[in-house]
Amino acid sequence: MLRRTLLAAASSERLRQAVTTAPQTRAIVDRYVAGESTADAVRVAGELRAAGLLVSLDYLGEDTADAAQAAEVARAYARLLGELSAAGLTAGGGCEVSVKATAVGLLLPEHGEKTATENIARICAAARDAGTTVTLDAEDHTAVEATLRIAASLRPDFSDLGCVVQARLRRSEADCEQLASSGARVRLCKGAYDEPAEVAFTRRQDVDLSYARCLRRLMAGTGYPMVATHDPRLIDIATTVALMSGRPADRFEYQMLYGIRPAEQQRLTGTGAQVRVYVPYGRDWYGYLVRRLAERPGNVAFFLRSLVPDQRPRRVP
Ligand code: FDA
Repeated sequence: MLRRTLLAAASSERLRQAVTTAPQTRAIVDRYVAGESTADAVRVAGELRAAGLLVSLDYLGEDTADAAQAAEVARAYARLLGELSAAGLTAGGGCEVSVKATAVGLLLPEHGEKTATENIARICAAARDAGTTVTLDAEDHTAVEATLRIAASLRPDFSDLGCVVQARLRRSEADCEQLASSGARVRLCKGAYDEPAEVAFTRRQDVDLSYARCLRRLMAGTGYPMVATHDPRLIDIATTVALMSGRPADRFEYQMLYGIRPAEQQRLTGTGAQVRVYVPYGRDWYGYLVRRLAERPGNVAFFLRSLVPDQRPRRVP
């Protein structure tokens, strides 16, 4: 219930205003977001690479409503990739980027899918120049089919273009089956969106069971599985399934979000596993932050306090 209420808050413009202007939210934003500028993103990526972690950078923003803004997001990614490359961080895919189709035009009223496809192709070309890859994030279920279609249409030119599958969705096991046999890079996550029961599992244990089934499909296939979870049980299952599938440590990776379970990220790296940290940056952090809070009820009190104006008397300097 709380999760549902919080996820509804992600689309409230009034709450967005209240939260993004409240100084109290800064500390929690800083925990999950690298900063607002490209320089912040490059700095944090460098720190993580120095600690032996791989990185995927996400320029925050979703539901872009006009073509000029969509093109600007694609240019921002190209600039980021250029700067990461200049800093020596992209070699061998050490730092890649994650892109949301709606941020580059998918929801435009006219030619949305075509615009998103062209912008993603530009980002893929910039990534190739930099020696690295792109992964397409998964958004709510209404965008999934189009996002997978875009990925499939670009793979003949950019074979390492990755995509995300959400275990929460009922369709995902079949998607994994298909993607695993096509050799694709696939990030498997639980799914962060509030979805209706017709298309999604709503009970936590059913989502976890679906995750384990999807994992088996991906590990048995010819592609490159990316195990995106902080859940200790699923991490253990992934380790076991990889072992039983005869998949060596360099043929899959674990992925976690910036600011979540950093000690576990280091522990896994210490075992010889590949671990990639998903690092968001940019000014448009509200939707991302609300999804992270919805996963962690302990953070909610902090969030709610930030919405209430400070009642203490203020001294005028
Ligand atoms: P779960 O939520 O059960 O958490 C397991 C444990 O992890 C918790 O008990 C806690 O210890 C810790 N934890 C989890 N979330 C936390 C938080 N916010 N703060 C503090 N601790 C926390 N989703 C999506 O819909 N589309 C996408 O494209 C992506 N992309 C993506 C990339 C990567 C690299 C990751 C790791 C995740 C995503 N996600 C995503 C988000 C994903 O769907 C899911 O919402 C979160 O990963 C939380 O689910 P867990 O699997 O971690 O399990």
